Amino acid sequence: MNVSPPADLLGRAVLAIPGNSGNTVRRAYGVVRSSSITAKSVAQHGLARLSRRAVFSDAERGAALVTPRRDVLLVHGDPRVGNNAGEGFNVAWLTSELRAQGADVQAAQFDHVSYDGVRLLVDGVERPLPEAVLVRRMPRSGTNEDLVRLREHGVHVTNDPAALRYANKADMEELFTAHGIAHVDTVVARGAADLDVAEQRFSYPMVVKDPAAAGGLGVELAADRSQLEAHVARMSAAGDGRVVLQRYHPEAQGRVTRVLFVRDRTGALQARAGWVGHGPSSDFKSNGPSSGITRRLAVSGPRLGLPADAIDQARRATDAAGLDSCAVDVIWTEDGWRVLELNPSPAIIEADVNLPRSAQMIPNLVDFVLRGTRSATPAGG
Ligand SMILES: Nc1ncnc2c1ncn2[C@@H]1O[C@H](COP(=O)(O)OP(=O)(O)O)[C@@H](O)[C@H]1O
Ligand SMILES: [Mg+2]
Repeated sequence: MNVSPPADLLGRAVLAIPGNSGNTVRRAYGVVRSSSITAKSVAQHGLARLSRRAVFSDAERGAALVTPRRDVLLVHGDPRVGNNAGEGFNVAWLTSELRAQGADVQAAQFDHVSYDGVRLLVDGVERPLPEAVLVRRMPRSGTNEDLVRLREHGVHVTNDPAALRYANKADMEELFTAHGIAHVDTVVARGAADLDVAEQRFSYPMVVKDPAAAGGLGVELAADRSQLEAHVARMSAAGDGRVVLQRYHPEAQGRVTRVLFVRDRTGALQARAGWVGHGPSSDFKSNGPSSGITRRLAVSGPRLGLPADAIDQARRATDAAGLDSCAVDVIWTEDGWRVLELNPSPAIIEADVNLPRSAQMIPNLVDFVLRGTRSATPAGG
């Protein structure tokens, strides 16, 4: 471990000196950032596992120099597929924010990335392991387990690809039930018998959802059994056979409250922003074709725009899924606030509601990717 850091890393390097406080180090070397990698972790894990983080010994000062994370692989959805129309825009925005915060970025589509435990291939070309991977979106039909294996090699993977499957409303239902999240009463229908179960629990009109759809597209009201059967037949044929049936809450009045969570540097899920969306009074969906009326809501600080326990349910749902960032929809019902759905890869709508930068998803997410540590429980755990 007797290597000199390349000149271009000097100003950005972070010192980790056993026994010295961070402030002493910062004063002595003019270091502006601290890193989650300590000299102790170098000793424990060895240089090989941390190699791409450029660890250098500095014999004179008795220090190990570690660069902040800066080589980032951004994994995204296919902009040409269905609901992903805005994906190209999101990738461009994330890329420029990552660069602005000091990262080198390579962007690739989820199915162009593979890792067998030794070789990481991106667009068919082998590349060194990055310091961090940001998984923006996976296909609703699948996942890429290769990516999470990178964690075994010290790569900071933001958004466990397995957790991103909770974009599916049928998977969500299982998660909410397993973790006791206060959520909208739901039956996942796999066959005709389940329609009878739903009829016993909910009266008409009943909400029928295509589990894999988003943006208000696969959400319908069924006024009676024949409409229910027609929606179910269409949606189950289009997907994996599962259809989500829900109690309809007219008292929500077509309003949905959305809370945005992103982990902070210590790995804690912070509510960053909240807003209310609703369509015209004729539409029970907040995000139907004529939606877009939004109002901001305080989700932290002394004057919360919705009850603290509603925010807490939304946070617990995000944590249960194992997500590092998520927009959670909640609605007001006669039974209290209820979680409606998770949006693990929300369309980035900060611009619509003019959030300050401190509340926006992208700068917070990039900060976590470059400087955060993840101590959260894994998906389903
Ligand atoms: N069970 C329900 N009761 C009342 N309104 C609902 C219910 N489910 C959905 N909605 C309305 O429909 C909108 C879209 O449903 P949601 O489950 O969030 O799906 P999407 O993924 O399309 O956003 C919600 O924002 C809400 O306004
Ligand atoms: Mg929604």
